[in-house]
Amino acid sequence: MVGHEVARRRTFAIISHPDAGKTTLTEKLLLFAGAIHIAGSVKARKASRHATSDWMEIEKQRGISVASSVMQMEYGGCVINLLDTPGHQDFSEDTYRVLTAVDAALMVIDAANGVEAQTLRLLNVCRARNTPILTFVNKMDREVRDPLDLIDEIERALNMAAVPFTWPMGMGRGFNGVFDLRRDSMRVFRPGSDRLDDEDEVIEGLNNPEIAERFSKNAANMQQEVELIRGASPEFSHAAFLAGQQTPIFFGSAINNFGVREVLEALIHLAPPPGPRSALQRQVQPSEPKFSGVVFKIQANMNPAHRDRIAFVRICSGRFERGMNLRVGRNDKDIRTNGVVSFLSQRRDLLDIAYAGDIIGIPNHGTLQLGDTLTEGEQLQFTGLPFFAPEIFQTVEIADPMRSKQLKLGLAQLGEEGAIQVFRPHWGGTLLLGAVGALQFEVVAHRLKHEYGVEARLAPAKYQLARWITADDPRELKRFIDTNAHRIAYDVVDAPTFLASYGAELSVAEESWKNIRFHRMREHA
Ligand code: G4P
Repeated sequence: MVGHEVARRRTFAIISHPDAGKTTLTEKLLLFAGAIHIAGSVKARKASRHATSDWMEIEKQRGISVASSVMQMEYGGCVINLLDTPGHQDFSEDTYRVLTAVDAALMVIDAANGVEAQTLRLLNVCRARNTPILTFVNKMDREVRDPLDLIDEIERALNMAAVPFTWPMGMGRGFNGVFDLRRDSMRVFRPGSDRLDDEDEVIEGLNNPEIAERFSKNAANMQQEVELIRGASPEFSHAAFLAGQQTPIFFGSAINNFGVREVLEALIHLAPPPGPRSALQRQVQPSEPKFSGVVFKIQANMNPAHRDRIAFVRICSGRFERGMNLRVGRNDKDIRTNGVVSFLSQRRDLLDIAYAGDIIGIPNHGTLQLGDTLTEGEQLQFTGLPFFAPEIFQTVEIADPMRSKQLKLGLAQLGEEGAIQVFRPHWGGTLLLGAVGALQFEVVAHRLKHEYGVEARLAPAKYQLARWITADDPRELKRFIDTNAHRIAYDVVDAPTFLASYGAELSVAEESWKNIRFHRMREHA
C-alpha cells in the first residue's frame, strides 16, 4: 500500500528569477489539475518581490501565504506536491532548505532574459544535490532571444545537456506554436488564458504541407531548426535526467496557458517519485511502512495572539495518520499530531492520511525546530538541511530594558524559525544577528515590534564572516575557544562559531590551528 502511494507522488519546486512567470505558471498547473479555487490565492500570495513594504503587506495575509506555500493536486493518477519558494533573494536561505524537500525542480526562464542571477544560485543548490531539473522557456509570445542561443546558454549555465522536447515556431506577434519533437506534431498557438490546451489545434508531421501553407513566414526556419536539433542534441536518457545530467526543455507562454500541459505531463512521466534519504544512522527507503519525516521549514506566529508555529515536515518514509504519536529525535519527546494540517488537497479524505513525498504541517509552540527528525520511535537524524554562514552582522539592543525578556524570546523564536541567525558572544554582551541578505534584518525588526512588542535598535557589527568550528579532539576545540574567546559566539543550537572582521583573520586562524575545522555550512542540529 505504501509502495503504491509513494510511486504516484511527485514533489517539486519551481525555481526562477522574479518576474519570469512562476506565479502564472503555478496557476495554470493548478487549473489543469482542477484545483481552480486555489488559483486566486496564488496570485494574492505573489510574494513580495522587491520592497520590504510589499513583504509586510503579504505577511498581513499570512494565512494565504501559508496555505499556498505547499500546493497539492492530483493529475493523471499522480499526487503532485508543489512547494513554493520565496521570490526575494534575501530569503534565499529559506529557499535552499525548501529545495532539500523536493525530488525535482522546474526551472522557468524568461525567454527574453535567459538564465538570470537568482536562477543560477538556486540551480547550484539543485546541482549540488543532483536534483533532476525540467526547463520551461516562458513568454514566447514576446520578442525574445533566439531559441538556439537560449539552449546554448542553458547548457552552459546548468553544465548539462539540454534536450528540447518542444520547439517554438516564431515569437512575439509572429508566434505560431510549438512543435513536439516526440509526437512529431505541431500545436498551433492561440492566445487566451481561459481554455485548456486540449482544445488546441494540432497538425501532424514536421513536413506536412499544411504547415508551410499556413505559416509561410516561419515554417522553413522552424523545420530547419528541428532537423538541426534532432541531429545535434543528444538522445534523451531518463537515467541521465534523473542523475541531473540532462534537462528536457519546453517552450511556451504561461499567461496564454500554452505549452503548460506538456510540462505537467513531463512532471508525472519523467520526474521521479520520492527516493531514499540519508540519515546519520542509515539510508531510509520511502516505502518502509514506518513513518519518518524531517522539518525543513518553520513559519511562526500565524496567529500573533497564540504564538503558534507551523513546522513543515517532508515525509521521508511510510504513512502518516492524523493523531499518531511522533517522536522528536533531538530530545526523545513525543508529540501528538491531532491538529496536523494538510495543504489544500482536493479531497477531504486525503487530509487525514499522507505518504512519503507529501508535506504535512504540524502546529506547535516551539517543540519543533528546523532539521528535526520525526519517527515512530526509531533513533534517526536525517542529514542535508543546510544553514549557511551569515555574511552580514548587526548588533541588537532595546530602547526599553524592561522588554529584554521579550527580546530574548522573540529572537530565540525567530532564530529557530531560520528567519535570522542569532549568536550569543562567548564573553556575553549584546546579541549578534547574522543574515545572508540585508532584508532579513528589516523583517526581523518589524516582527520584533509587531509580534513581540519590542522596539529593537539594530546597528552594523564589526564582523564580516563566520565559520562554525569543530575538532575531533574536544580539548583542542576548547583550547581554540579559550584562546580566541573574543571572536567566539554560539548559535541557536549552541554550536560554537568563529567570527572575523576580515578574510585575513580567518586565514591566519586556519593556518595556525590545523586541527580545527572551519565550516561555511552547518547541517541539522
Ligand atoms: P513571478 O512569479 O516569476 O515573479 O512572475 P509572474 O508569474 O508574476 O509574471 C511576471 C509578469 O510576467 C506578469 O506581468 C505576468 O503577467 C507576465 N507573464 C507571465 N507569463 C507570461 C507570458 O507567457 N507572456 C507574457 N507576455 N507575459 C507573461 P505583470 O505585468 O508584472 O503582472 P500582471 O499585472 O500581469 O499580474
